[in-house]
Amino acid sequence: MKRSQTGVTRHPVLKQVKAHLQKRQAMEMARNERRLFQEANRLKRLPLYLFTILDDLKAQALQRGIDVIDLGMGNPDLPPPAHVIEELGRQVKDPANHRYSRPGGDVERRLKEAIAAWYARKFKVSLDPATEVLPLIGSKEGIAHLSLAFLNHDDIALVPNPAYPVHFNSVVMAGGILYSIPTSAEHHYLPNLRSVNREVLKMSKMLFLSYPHNPTTATADLKFFQDAIGWAAHHKIMVVHDFAYSDFIFEGPPAPSILQVKEARPLAVEFHTLSKSYSLAGWRLGFAVGNRDILASLAKTKSYVDFGIFRAIQAAAVRALLGPQDYVADIVHTYRKRRDVFVGGLQRAGWHLPMPKSTFYVWAGIPLKFSALTSLEFATLLMQEAGVVAAPGSGFGEYGEGYVRFALVEPEARLKDAVTRIEKVLAMES
Ligand SMILES: Cc1ncc(COP(=O)(O)O)c(C=O)c1O
Repeated sequence: MKRSQTGVTRHPVLKQVKAHLQKRQAMEMARNERRLFQEANRLKRLPLYLFTILDDLKAQALQRGIDVIDLGMGNPDLPPPAHVIEELGRQVKDPANHRYSRPGGDVERRLKEAIAAWYARKFKVSLDPATEVLPLIGSKEGIAHLSLAFLNHDDIALVPNPAYPVHFNSVVMAGGILYSIPTSAEHHYLPNLRSVNREVLKMSKMLFLSYPHNPTTATADLKFFQDAIGWAAHHKIMVVHDFAYSDFIFEGPPAPSILQVKEARPLAVEFHTLSKSYSLAGWRLGFAVGNRDILASLAKTKSYVDFGIFRAIQAAAVRALLGPQDYVADIVHTYRKRRDVFVGGLQRAGWHLPMPKSTFYVWAGIPLKFSALTSLEFATLLMQEAGVVAAPGSGFGEYGEGYVRFALVEPEARLKDAVTRIEKVLAMES
């Protein structure tokens, strides 16, 4: 192995990844040149989707016969609740459920009522099912369409960085202006809203928040939301809270809903999903709640694009929301045990990591010894040398650089195996 100018060992695998990236870029350029139809600029402006690069490398590793442990994507592996699957089985047999979903239909109404009941039970916030609840084909779809519904080319969306990529990509896709607010571990990944200057504020229309936070695992308390709502009301900015991990708290009080802030209703919407709490990611079922005018515009946008959710899935989702909830507590317990095994193991192997208090992710600063590597390079090293897939932090925005994210979506035994393999990488000569 050769020493680089920085003094850090440059593993041969890094040469490979650089070559791979260059090749991909050249291929992409060549493909663009050959194209009869150029992609729209809004598509060209999107950042490189790092998961596709890792998918390529993973496919190559699998071809070489490597047993890959994939902790890259937050794609839950646990089986969904049995009673919900049974309900889906019953519902698919009803011919009426195979027709288009219509906003005024029976199951559509029952789903909205179930969401409002679930919300009232969980957060003690009452919602009008008819106007303050909107079911979605997954929350990602809803967030993307919300940006499309509201952003003009001279409207700014404020997005803390790092973030779940759809928060910033949806702004670019909608043709709006993206303004990142840097966040850091030092400030618990909470944005300093008062750091945004007046010129920017004048053009700002939306603010994205999301706690418990993917990828950093940070949480926010009600006081933070109260301040954010007060600030946003003053500047007339819509607040979008992505609450995908509402149930995933391992320590401390339950995560608050932004709608628990009394003054939130005129300007806030909150996004939820059944993908994580009920392990139903492939079903594509999420929902938005909150301000009725914002939701009406989102529903209007969607009415031009989609025909709603498969009705059998809507009926089964009613069962998920109104049926027994022990499942949720059980899976949070499972993820907590996985966290203890994985993070505890890495800590013992000498990787200085904090124990995450929420979500099912591990946000890991690249060890000092490897700090001359980018997060993509380090993730590639883990992939090639340990057969473990992690998401490079830079995929969540430039302020995610210096970190990788592991998703705890494999059983404990596989996580133990991952630790053993990563330990060998950490012990690599430097
Ligand atoms: C913060 C956050 N929001 C939204 C989503 C998307 O969820 P859905 O499956 O409802 O589209 C995810 C998925 O990983 C997420 O992490």
